[in-house]
Amino acid sequence: MKYVPVLASAELLHLLDGLTAGVTQPLFSADDWALRLGDDPGAQQFINQMRQEWLPLTVPDEFCQQMMDFARGYLEPFAGWPHLWAHTLRVTGTALALAPEAGIEPAHAFLLGMFHDVGKLDELHNGGSHEQIGADVAREQLHTHFNRQIVTLLTNVIAKKSSPLNPYTRLIHDADKLDKIGATGIARRLSTSSGTQFAALALSRVEEDLHDFPDMHFPTSQRLAEGKRAFTEMFLAQFIRPGAADGLV
Ligand SMILES: [Fe+2]
Ligand SMILES: [Fe+2]
Repeated sequence: MKYVPVLASAELLHLLDGLTAGVTQPLFSADDWALRLGDDPGAQQFINQMRQEWLPLTVPDEFCQQMMDFARGYLEPFAGWPHLWAHTLRVTGTALALAPEAGIEPAHAFLLGMFHDVGKLDELHNGGSHEQIGADVAREQLHTHFNRQIVTLLTNVIAKKSSPLNPYTRLIHDADKLDKIGATGIARRLSTSSGTQFAALALSRVEEDLHDFPDMHFPTSQRLAEGKRAFTEMFLAQFIRPGAADGLV
């Protein structure tokens, strides 16, 4: 545990409190977070950053809409699904934004986003690998709509069995990793926390993710990463390490 809030900033503690939302809150857009966090200056700065990071999600076609409804319905029976669904929406929005630079059809990028973690709650409750579960679930849904070559490509990427050089692999890699840092990454980590002790742990995990952040493959993901890095550094700089100075909680 490396980070604890500075006691002096009541505003920051208030923001942290708002960010520790729990996994059951339906926070599916930056607007949902804005309502939750209120409008004091600290929260507003956070929300402004979140709005820049959380890219709009335009559903490419009717089949994609069906798959989106399916993915949501698949997750909904599990406790804590809203937290994962919010991540899925963000990753899919980012994947769509990267699609032109990756030379990938929007529908394919959309479906990678939708299915990349669809097995996550299965894995959590029943074991197995969420990548493989997700690939199996996707194959079942996609095989009547796409030819075998496309289905194999998409499911291999979801199963993480595709080449790291493949643009599809790169696209979902970048979109997924970007959700670990920045305002969305911080909110994502903190919203699984309860109490200051866990908030400190969540922030130290964000710090690790920032430290280990991988190279991005496309101009847009590089630009997004840069903005997210700068914000994360600035946000973490508001906290001090235990034992380093006064103001520990
Ligand atoms: Fe995953
Ligand atoms: Fe993910």
